[in-house]
Parts: sequence; C-alpha cells; structure tokens
Amino acid sequence: MNYRVPRTRKEIFETLIKGLQRLEYRGYDSAGVAIDGNNHEVKERHIQLVKKRGKVKALDEELYKQDSMDLKVEFETHFGIAHTRWATHGVPSAVNSHPQRSDKGNEFVVIHNGIITNYKDLRKFLESKGYEFESETDTETIAKLIKYVFDNRETEDITFSTLVERVIQQLEGAFALVFKSVHYPGEAVATRRGSPLLIGVRSKYKLSTEQIPILYRTCTLENVKNICKTRMKRLDSSACLHAVGDKAVEFFFASDASAIIEHTNRVIFLEDDDIAAVADGKLSIHRVKRSASDDPSRAIQTLQMELQQIMKGNFSAFMQKEIFEQPESVFNTMRGRVNFETNTVLLGGLKDHLKEIRRCRRLIVIGCGTSYHAAVATRQVLEELTELPVMVELASDFLDRNTPVFRDDVCFFISQSGETADTFLALRYCKDRGALTVGVTNTVGSSISRETDCGVHINAGPEIGVASTKAYTSQFISLVMFGLMMSEDRISLQNRRQEIIRGLRSLPELIKEVLSLEEKIHDLALELYTQRSLLVMGRGYNYATCLEGALKIKEITYMHSEGILAGELKHGPLALIDKQMPVIMVIMKDPCFAKCQNALQQVTARQGRPIILCSKDDTESSKFAYKTIELPHTVDCLQGILSVIPLQLLSFHLAVLRGYDVDFPRNLAKSVTVE
Ligand code: G6P
Repeated sequence: MNYRVPRTRKEIFETLIKGLQRLEYRGYDSAGVAIDGNNHEVKERHIQLVKKRGKVKALDEELYKQDSMDLKVEFETHFGIAHTRWATHGVPSAVNSHPQRSDKGNEFVVIHNGIITNYKDLRKFLESKGYEFESETDTETIAKLIKYVFDNRETEDITFSTLVERVIQQLEGAFALVFKSVHYPGEAVATRRGSPLLIGVRSKYKLSTEQIPILYRTCTLENVKNICKTRMKRLDSSACLHAVGDKAVEFFFASDASAIIEHTNRVIFLEDDDIAAVADGKLSIHRVKRSASDDPSRAIQTLQMELQQIMKGNFSAFMQKEIFEQPESVFNTMRGRVNFETNTVLLGGLKDHLKEIRRCRRLIVIGCGTSYHAAVATRQVLEELTELPVMVELASDFLDRNTPVFRDDVCFFISQSGETADTFLALRYCKDRGALTVGVTNTVGSSISRETDCGVHINAGPEIGVASTKAYTSQFISLVMFGLMMSEDRISLQNRRQEIIRGLRSLPELIKEVLSLEEKIHDLALELYTQRSLLVMGRGYNYATCLEGALKIKEITYMHSEGILAGELKHGPLALIDKQMPVIMVIMKDPCFAKCQNALQQVTARQGRPIILCSKDDTESSKFAYKTIELPHTVDCLQGILSVIPLQLLSFHLAVLRGYDVDFPRNLAKSVTVE
C-alpha cells in the first residue's frame, strides 16, 4: 500500500508478484491478485481480480495477458493484495484461489491464511440470506460476511475497520486476513488470530512515532443481525503511525518478513485480534479486548534479515544452499552462547527461568516433522545432563491423547517457523495447565516465540526449502546447549560437559568435511534413484538420524522410505530384507556399536546389501558393507549432526535425478498453519 508515492500499475504488480514468489515456499498450488481497475478515479474505482491455478509464475504471465490492464497508469495511493495458496478446502483451481470475493462486482475481496472452522454454519446462514457461493473454500464465507455486514449497516459512515471487527467476532479458527473494498478506495484493513501477520513500514521521512498506541473499544454485539450499532470514532493522529508532515509512506502487509524484506526491515508484528487499518496514509491499530501480551502499543522493530539470505545464490535449490550453509548456521547457533574457554553455556532467553526449570518434575519436548526429530535426537543427552525424565511428543498425538500436564512440568515447543498450528495448539494446551513453556524457534516474532514464557532463538537464518535441513542441526545444538546450561553445577558431569563442548567447537569444520563427500553421495544416488523404496536403520543416538533421513527422502523424492530402529529389526522389519531392498545402516562408534553389528549380521544373513554410514576408522562394519560412506568421528551425542548430512544430500540428489522440483514438493508446505 503506498501513499503519496506515485507507482505505476506495473510497479505494483511487480511488488506483489515478487512478494508472492518469496512466500511461495509456504504454498504453491494457485495464486491470485486484486488491484484497482482502470477507472481509478475515486468514485468509479473498481477492483480487478486475476487468479490462476499453478505457481506464481503462471499468475505473473496471466497478468500481462489481460488487455484491460494499462500498465503505465499511475496511482498516488494504491492498495493491492495477492495470495499464494496451499489448498485445505477445495481443490487447487482459479475459483478456489484467493482473493475471494463478496459478489460478482468484487465489492469486497479478501485473502486468508489459516482455516475457519465454523464456515459451514456461516455459509448456511449467508445462503439463507440469498448470498450465492462460487467456490468450495472457507474463505469465501468471510468475503460474503463482510458484505452482509456492510449491506445491513445502520449508518452510512461506518468505517472499514469496524466492518472487519464485526466480521472477526463471528469467525472461529485461525486466520490472517487482508481486505480491500471498492467502498473504501485506497484503504486497507488487516487482522489476525492464530496465523502470523506483520506490517512493513517504509518511508524516507521521519515517522510520527515508533510505538503505535492501541485503541480499545468495548462492543456489546451479540450476533450478525444486530452488529451495526457501534461506530468507530474518528481516529486522532496520536493513535496513528504516519510520516511526519504528510509525506510519502508505504505499508506492506505480509504473513512472513521474507515477502517484504527487500523494501523494508522495519516491521510491526500484530497480536491476535488486532485490527490494523491504513487510510489517508495513516496506520492505526485497534482491538476490542486487551491483548494476551497486555502491551498497550505495538512497536516498530528492525529485523536483522538480509535479502541475500533469502536468495538462492549459486545453488540450484534453496535446500542445497541450506545444506551447505550448515557450517555457518551451526556456528551462529552457538555464537555468543558457548564459551569454549570457560566451558560454560549461557542462553540469554532462559537464564531468568533456570531455577524454575531445575525444580521441575519433567521435561516435555513437543514438535512436528523435522522439529520432532530434533527432540528425539537429543532426548538421551538431555536425560543425561538434566537428570530429569524427558518425554518427546508429536504435537498432534500429544493433543489427541489429552496428555496430563502439570504446573511443575516444563514444556518445550520446537518449531522452525514458530507457526505450526499443531505445535501452537499444544503450547496453548500446556499454558492452560500452568506449565512453564519454552519456545525453540527460528523466526523472530513468530506466534510460538511470542506466546511462550521464555525461549531460544536458533539463529539458523531464514530457511526457505520446504524440506528442513539447517534448522534441524541448529535445533539439535540448541537443545544440547540447554542440557549443558542445566548441568553447569553438577560435579559428576564436568568431564562429560567438557567433552561435549569440545565437540561443539569442532562441529563446523567436521560438517565441512562431511559436505566434501557430496560427489560420492551423488554417485550413490545414481545407483538408487530408480528404486521404489529405501530403508534407513540405526539405533541409540542415531535413531533420529534414520527418522529424519527417511522423512527427507519421502518429502522430496516421493520414494517410500522408513526410518527403522535397529532394535526392532527382528520384530518385523527383517521380513522386508532381501537382495533387492536397499538398506542404509547408520553404525557409529558409540555405546550401541556392538548391537548395530548384530543388526548388520542379521541383514547380511538375509542377503541384504547394506550401504553403511560409519566412522572413518571402522574397519569392522565396512567388511560387510555393499558400500560405505565414512564420516569423521565426534562425541557420541553429537554424531547425529554429522550423520544426517549425507542423508540430506542423498535425498536432494535422488529428487533431482528423479526430475522433481526440490524446493516445491507436491502436497507439502513449509509451515502448516492448519490443524
Ligand atoms: C511441515 C514441514 C516440515 C516441518 C514441519 C514442522 O510439515 O513440511 O518440513 O518439519 O512442518 O515445521 P516447524 O516450522 O514447526 O518446524
């Protein structure tokens, strides 16, 4: 949204499309845009909608095919919205993609990230009032509902943000919404609940404030029928953000900073139920109830993210770039936290809660997908260093079970994005039961980082590839650092702590050594890429490596792959072993080495041909191997950081050889903000 910064339609398109491309990793089955049509004189404004199935590129091409679009026309104030979708309700198609509209005249259009759980009831109600639906989406209900509220308004001068406020009082579920309307030309209204939303601010001129005071309003509305009784008071300037002296300012609404970082690094994170409105170049935020944070203002924050961090550089895919970034990303996770001289670890975000954590009954570590695997990978070392019982939980299952949680539990929520709905709901569940909550995320300002009592930022840098790689190794290290911090005073653990801290110090160099094996792994991929199935087996510290390796293979190569606990081999999986079935075995020089040798014997006795990931000095395992990938040795509890990397690389090369788009695996999204 720009104000007093003349922009051509072409520039507006480019900004929207570039923003969508930066967000495409979060969803990419269809995309759409709504901008002002050619009659841009205030009274005759109309909204032009262009939507297309497929990736953002298809939408971009479509935009330029539209004859009615005058690309050179200039707007002094313009508000355009765009969306890239990951289908939850209704198949990927142009009609189901966003923006969704209120009617054929496009009076109100809306884009939505999240899920509306009561949309069926709302739809039934609106249909009974004569509104005709065209899509299968939950989002269309919102577009129709705002029109219903508008059509039934009591006063002519009802504000756009008042309409939105009334709409969200009827919505259940999770949403980040941005609205545009022909009735409010040049105005924008956005709101969120449960899904992330931020506002970027760009201005060459001094801003009126760095803290926007929140306006509160009590509203006694009961249902949609009598919702038009209150009216927003005219906002005075003290409650707004604008550039001083009526100067040029631009506002960007986005669900993720990567969409806007090339325009500005100055952002405001909205809280649940905040309603942000831009009109006449002024941004105001109001809400009906006080926020969970109880902060009476929203500050402008400066992000550290750099544009370069979200670009592919010389790599063919973000995933490959991120795999190769790991020597630096793990270093950044430890930077300023691990003191290698004094053998101490300080996690600033946890230090005030350390006493409380030490007194707890147990630790519960919760996540989904790769983040869950980081919890599995570090469970043993956490048990050892904290001397506490540690439960690791998949967020969805944890909730399904109504797991008992107590006030003296400490619950960790591991999430790269900080937005995963299952993990977030588990956080709310634990909070409601009085447990201390700790976030371990990679995204500043994310919902999980803001709702937890305290936390650790893993500092891995933006991760764009849908298949998580560098976030895993950084989550792993963050949890190990937590264990080290907890055990600082334990005399009996001092030698072990020193050994682990030494191990941490050498990790970046050892990761570089593992990455230099890429060619060998590529050759292995050449041998395996036509297979239908791939088993990955190990135990102890490396069981998580197997789960994570198999997940990477599934996610991007679409081969069947299973991470198998070697201890369970004889209880079922052995039946799968024959000459044909490819099996990768992770066998490291750790306390499980002898037991892994047993598993190896069992596999070779059934004519299996194991590909073994082992330590460089392991002459024993290699005797029985069909192939070996030899890795540098580190402390047992950190070995998983090194052993997962060949599997990340293998999945990447398998996917490329099979002809798949590594960064856009079918049916998946980077951050799943629906349950
Ligand atoms: C999605 C992604 C996975 C990711 C999981 C958890 O399923 O496709 O790659 O591991 O979410 O994401 P989070 O952001 O919570 O770590």
